Amino acid sequence: MDVTSVSVVGTGTMATGIVQVLAQSGIPVTMVGRSQSSIEDALATIRRNLQRGVERERMTADDMELSLSLVVPTTRYDGIAETDMVIEAVSEDMVVKAEVFERVDDLVKELALIASNTSSISITSLASLTSRPDRVIGMHFFNPVPVMQLVEVVRGLATSDEAVETTARLTTRIGKTPVEVNDFPGFVSNRVLMPMINEAVYCLMEGVATRENIDSVMKLGMNHPMGPLALADLIGLDVCLDILEVLHRDIGDPKYRPCPLLRKVVAAGKLGRKSGEGFFEYR
Ligand code: CAA
Repeated sequence: MDVTSVSVVGTGTMATGIVQVLAQSGIPVTMVGRSQSSIEDALATIRRNLQRGVERERMTADDMELSLSLVVPTTRYDGIAETDMVIEAVSEDMVVKAEVFERVDDLVKELALIASNTSSISITSLASLTSRPDRVIGMHFFNPVPVMQLVEVVRGLATSDEAVETTARLTTRIGKTPVEVNDFPGFVSNRVLMPMINEAVYCLMEGVATRENIDSVMKLGMNHPMGPLALADLIGLDVCLDILEVLHRDIGDPKYRPCPLLRKVVAAGKLGRKSGEGFFEYR
């Protein structure tokens, strides 16, 4: 099966990036949002990003308009009924995701695939909420989506080979690289990344170095494009804490325990770039 049209549920940072890369690759995409204002914000971000592409001469103004014309924004789920695949990218909350999965499963075509952009929730559990566990898969994008090369393609317990192959082909078509992994807490990306971020927060809490020096060590010594504390701010400190809680609870190894300082900054409402302050300030 080849995917000729996609629906994306959600209008947050990840959903917006996913809609953009699909449309830029010539794929018609229905974007389902909860409110008109969240949809308008998402469309404005996509237009701004594409406009930068025009200014940098990576695309023409006509390409930009063509991409924008492929996005069909809606607040109604019935718009997804005709698409070959639905990518769920709503907030990282099992209750919210479960509601979306059940609704989507009722509406989409029999052979449609349902993918989740989750970074920590079990694909196997999400699949079990549907009538098509063989056609449920993880499609884990990275922030900022228009820039990052990887899509972690996550195979749930029941995911079919055909679903994996179709998702990998779509990933390649939108200019990204699919890497297949099995469903396990944190997959590969966050199982490796989050302990590094957590350890950087322990270094800060224990006074091993300043926030700037912790990040400089990893940037200059390890060639990371940004330091772990700045990266945590980009991802969202609440998201990092949630993922660490999942690793800690579901793998059961104390090495994943979230640093108390991470809990404290989240409790203070310092969530990183999105709230204007995390380990660094962004005002
Ligand atoms: N949206 C769209 N494009 C963006 C962007 C955004 N939010 N942020 C940066 N860009 C683009 C810029 O426009 C720029 O392109 P042009 O100038 O050619 O138009 C290009 O990216 C480089 O940006 P900058 O020059 O401003 O900055 P930089 O060279 O320092 O790169 C970065 C910024 C791409 C974010 C880089 O620092 C980086 O790769 N950081 C690591 C990001 C990372 O690890 N992400 C994964 C997080 S984990 C995750 O997402 C999954 C999870 O489950 C938690």
